[in-house]
Amino acid sequence: MNLLAIETSCDETAAAVVAETGDVTRPWLIRSNVVASQTAIHREWGGVVPELAARQHVRDICGVVEAALERSHITLDALGAVAVTQGPGLVGSLLIGVAYAKALAWARGIPVVPVHHLAGHIESLTLAHGELPLPAAILVVSGGHTSLYSVSRPGAYQLVGRTRDDAAGEAYDKVAKLLGLGYPGGPAIDRLAREGNDTAVTLPVTRLTHADRNASEPVVSSLLPPDVARRVDFSFSGLKTAVLRVVRDRTGASHAGRAAAADAAGATLSQQDIADICASFQRVVIEALLDRTFEAARWLGARSVGIAGGVSANSRLRADAQERGARHGLPVFVPPIELATDNAAMIGAAGFRRLRDGAAAGWDFNAEASLAMYAETGGNRQEAGDRPVS
Ligand code: KG4
Ligand code: ZN
Repeated sequence: MNLLAIETSCDETAAAVVAETGDVTRPWLIRSNVVASQTAIHREWGGVVPELAARQHVRDICGVVEAALERSHITLDALGAVAVTQGPGLVGSLLIGVAYAKALAWARGIPVVPVHHLAGHIESLTLAHGELPLPAAILVVSGGHTSLYSVSRPGAYQLVGRTRDDAAGEAYDKVAKLLGLGYPGGPAIDRLAREGNDTAVTLPVTRLTHADRNASEPVVSSLLPPDVARRVDFSFSGLKTAVLRVVRDRTGASHAGRAAAADAAGATLSQQDIADICASFQRVVIEALLDRTFEAARWLGARSVGIAGGVSANSRLRADAQERGARHGLPVFVPPIELATDNAAMIGAAGFRRLRDGAAAGWDFNAEASLAMYAETGGNRQEAGDRPVS
């Protein structure tokens, strides 16, 4: 079956045609994957402006879907289903994709499948590499999320850790802004960090040892003992503030606000200083990501580790993850760059997974800015042990 997938959760309008292969070990293939990026529009404002993003999706969606169909060499008649990102994301952006997908599916008399954006990032790994050895510990690390999942059977995603404040990609973007590097910050820091000394600047490493009193619901999953579950949570906002302090100290702009500090950084800091700050910041972020992912993997008895989402495009994260995997004897999977950042092919893969699990929706679902991950539908739930699985 061919499936048309649509993704409009943030600032990329994306459509793809994904097909089933009939091979259970490598279940899907990409027939086309089209992304219209709005980066040039939002760069001027230093970040994504939700209203502008929604309006641009309206302009782009028809052309992007037409291009996806044309490049796949199939016609509308050959589509068996439509999948669409339902959330989480910017609600005005999500609405465009959801309305388009429902209208098209209704008109063609085919099912529409709502997909969780993070399930899409997770399934980008299966799309690229085939079914992963399970159980797997999977880190989704993007501009909006830093979440660690346990996947014990295909399509069952159980949250075991998440950021208590900023997402890692958000920290990259904010630090880049502070250093006057523009938007989006991740690729700029990745590039500059290669020229810097990653121990030149001392930055704090956040350790989470206490329960989160502000969390609305406990994240502590039954899969990990409570103290381990706390340790595998993330926090990046203190690190971002520490970088602000370094910039203020080095530029003499001691009481400057963020915008003034960014101006001072651009005017006063040498290229080498900026590269050193980028490299040091990146080292701390990546160590935090990998320490927690591999600790969770050990407790979960994982047979593989996956890293997906926009930040998984980072060159040092990819290299360090492989090196750690080799050290721990665990295979590590990352998506190719075009499937790491937001795209619709991954939504198609997650859509097929939902469809085959019997989860095609009625017509009354809507876009949801803070959509929860699908509820666990059964399978073998592993309970918390008192020692890691070796
Ligand atoms: O998954 P994604 O495209 O969108 C969300 O779902 O958020 O992730 C975008 C994030 C941005 O914060 C961007 O700065 C970051 O991914 N990113 C990177 C790199 N490329 C993109 N971060 C670090 N290094 C990169 N090479
Ligand atoms: Zn994403």
